[in-house]
Amino acid sequence: MGRAFVYVILGGGVAAGYVALEFARRGGYSRGELCIISEEAVAPYERPALSKGYLLPEGAARLPGFHTCVGANDELLTPKWYKEQGIELILGTKVISADVRRKALVTAVGETISYKTLIIATGARALKLEEFGIQGSDAENICYLRNIHDADKLVNAMKSCSGGNAVVIGGGYIGMECAAALVTNKIRVTMVFPEKHCMARLFTPRIAEYYENYYTSKGVTFVKGTVLTSFEKDATGKVTAVILKDGKRLPADMVVVGIGIRANTSLFEGQLVVSMVNDGIKVNGQMQTSESSVYAVGDVAAFPIKLFDGDVRRLEHVDSARRTARHAVSAILEPAKTRDINYLPFFYSRVFTLSWQFYGDNVGEVVHFGEFTNSSPRFGAYWVNKGRITGAFLEGGSREEYEAISVAVGRKTKVTDMAELGKQGLAFAVQE
Ligand code: FDA
Ligand code: NAD
Repeated sequence: MGRAFVYVILGGGVAAGYVALEFARRGGYSRGELCIISEEAVAPYERPALSKGYLLPEGAARLPGFHTCVGANDELLTPKWYKEQGIELILGTKVISADVRRKALVTAVGETISYKTLIIATGARALKLEEFGIQGSDAENICYLRNIHDADKLVNAMKSCSGGNAVVIGGGYIGMECAAALVTNKIRVTMVFPEKHCMARLFTPRIAEYYENYYTSKGVTFVKGTVLTSFEKDATGKVTAVILKDGKRLPADMVVVGIGIRANTSLFEGQLVVSMVNDGIKVNGQMQTSESSVYAVGDVAAFPIKLFDGDVRRLEHVDSARRTARHAVSAILEPAKTRDINYLPFFYSRVFTLSWQFYGDNVGEVVHFGEFTNSSPRFGAYWVNKGRITGAFLEGGSREEYEAISVAVGRKTKVTDMAELGKQGLAFAVQE
């Protein structure tokens, strides 16, 4: 049993959707030559909606409304679109083994799917508490959040918990965005994480303090610098409390866990070169892996960032998934015309009425600026390394202001006087 395609996109998430659109735009295939194989039962969608619009108590986002590529203000790719474009969607199908030498994949039902060119877009999976030695996180009221199936479980848990208590484990993106969604759904939230402050991978203590105070004003309690050790459950197996390392007991009607991700690389272990630094599949500036017929894009790919002197990074953000996807198609169809990717890392988040953007790399000395107020926040920070702007963060900016900070980072604007930079703040980038 088997099928053969010219191009196979393995994975059906954000990057897969953007790969498909780029192929369709460039007309680089004939009907039936291109397929997407996805473990998920639905066509590619904009994953960021799952921790935002999908969790709203009213007017929540639902498919088909947020299939790719609406997140980039582009076409909505419904299953009908794929049909019209002659792109085969092989959904609800997990690939369980890959042989890059033979150019073949095997699915869970035993089908062999062969390709001439493979685009790996397998993304990542949520880390489980069991991987940290904590048992029992499969309870019906403990929620992870990576796919639409998880999001439905979370929505159901929130519905049966209105007015109750939630414990959020992890102070990263999922923790922060889900805590805001829980509050909006009238659920009391306690956040537990091991670091000194939230969003420790990106925020400075000062930036974190602002968001923590804002969340506190919305009724969120922070328990920092500690981890959980176990769950208390009732006779039906539902969690009733979270037990912390210091013995403290937090009553819980539901739990949300966001403790990071692991790139889905295991199918290719021992076959493709993996980046030592951050466990992604290593690619060159054309998104090509160590095997010339195999490309990797999105969360799973570790690629060189020119702006960081070619440093190889695996980014876990949607803009990177979209850009690397489009770049790979360009490299596949027009290799001679495609220069190495020149990507400026871009992260963002929206919680309550707040909204921030970050560009670049958060290394070097930090200079904060602006108004850290609740009524009309408009503040940020620059990271300055070796006399140049390497990163910039802005909360509450306008489109032009975000554009200005991105340009300052992209140009690695020179900084001669740190005190002056702090004084000028946003104006430094805007006047550039
Ligand atoms: P993605 O995870 O989207 O897709 C991977 C696909 O591969 C899935 O369909 C999976 O089922 C499939 N797959 C994996 N292994 C397979 C196998 N063996 N066989 C078949 N299929 C397989 N970023 C940001 O910049 N701003 C934001 O606001 C957010 N918000 C956000 C919210 C939530 C809830 C999450 C989980 C993530 C975000 N992100 C984000 C991150 C962003 O969504 C992420 O970077 C992209 O989804 C990455 O796209 P990929 O296509 O690489 O992976
Ligand atoms: P994360 O890496 O942002 O945060 C992980 C957090 O887990 C850490 O901040 C830490 O507080 C906590 N942690 C780690 N080990 C722990 C332990 N043993 N016990 C308790 N807490 C522990 O990851 P995430 O929040 O799970 O997000 C998952 C992925 O989704 C990331 O790739 C992220 O980029 C993506 N995402 C992005 C956005 C966005 O860009 N706006 C939004 C949602 C999700």
